[in-house]
Amino acid sequence: MPTNLSALLPSLMLSLAALASACKSIPNPMSTKPPASLPPAAAFGKTKAGESATVWTLKNSRGLIAKVTDYGATLVELHVPDKAGKLADVVLGFGDVAGYEGGDNQYFGCTTGRVCNRIAKGKFTLNGKEYTLAINNDPNHLHGGKERSLSKVMWRGAPYETRRGKELVEQGVVFTYTSPAGEEGYPGTLLVTVTIALTRESELRMDYEARLQDAAPGDATPINLTNHAYFNLAGAGSATVLDHLLKLEADQYTPTDDTLIPTGELKPVKGSELDFGKPHRIGDRIPADTTPWKGYDHNFVVNGKAGEMRLAATVKDPASGRVMEIHTREPGIQFYTGNFLKGQTGKGGKTYPHRSAICLETQHFPDSVNQPKFPSTIYKEGQTYRTSTIHKFRAE
Ligand code: BGC
Repeated sequence: MPTNLSALLPSLMLSLAALASACKSIPNPMSTKPPASLPPAAAFGKTKAGESATVWTLKNSRGLIAKVTDYGATLVELHVPDKAGKLADVVLGFGDVAGYEGGDNQYFGCTTGRVCNRIAKGKFTLNGKEYTLAINNDPNHLHGGKERSLSKVMWRGAPYETRRGKELVEQGVVFTYTSPAGEEGYPGTLLVTVTIALTRESELRMDYEARLQDAAPGDATPINLTNHAYFNLAGAGSATVLDHLLKLEADQYTPTDDTLIPTGELKPVKGSELDFGKPHRIGDRIPADTTPWKGYDHNFVVNGKAGEMRLAATVKDPASGRVMEIHTREPGIQFYTGNFLKGQTGKGGKTYPHRSAICLETQHFPDSVNQPKFPSTIYKEGQTYRTSTIHKFRAE
């Protein structure tokens, strides 16, 4: 297959999945048996509402293994080799859908939205109309809401793989979900597609697409999507991430008030505990538990041009040698040190103590919908939201 054609395949798959969802005549991919070479599916338990969840296993030729489920379009497992070739699962999560629906789930690995992070007081005004959203992080709205955020609904999953001759280029699942108008208070019916893929370059790639459906000219809605994976490169369940080294490609951050709502300014990080221009051990300068952010919980402004794929963060666990690079088209990245992890039990009986994982959530800035100076998160009828983030792994 010519290189350019195979490079186009992922976006072709996206469009096909969106089309499949749009014209409901195309059968559910799970209702017909997929060819043997596609990423295998397994049952992942039933939701409280009685829906059957599925988990797919993705592999690449360099030993990486990922598992993804249709509940919340969630990354469940990610096995990455260390410098001796030994695999460890580096993301926090649960062994079945009941775990993800339970009170111990703090957005582990999910697709977060319709608007990730906070919206001040759960209010915004669009086209002259005020919208009120759930206050689920007092006094603000967090991660798309309380009951029907994108992280808490069942998506439709379509597994695929791309080969060049016999060589496996990537395996992935295209997740689609149609969020009805008014769901969690957001305006407009929104068709969302998220592709989670594992590539032969040892990348975990997430491609997002969304657009309003059945909308009238002038209709608009805010969109800001991310994945909320919690990483511990020593292996999920390890005591802490304070020994990890972090480098951030960010000269500025968005300072906030005490409820983590941005003030609207951009401030330089230089000389402060937020300066990760050179790699720093995370634990060396971490803000105290007594600060309003209780550790790191800050949005950084990624250097370079938003919309272009560029390096945003590099994390290394010196003991195992595992390194993760994050590349994104997004203008921002939320660096959060698992300050609210409470020792809950996850997959395989492992516990997740305070600060035992980091999240690096690529995103538009928090509360953008109320911040005229920030890059806009508003999408109008006829416009398509598109973004991508790549997590690239190596060991050294
Ligand atoms: C937020 C944190 C929050 C965490 C878990 C992060 O994106 O910035 O404040 O506690 O998600 O919900």
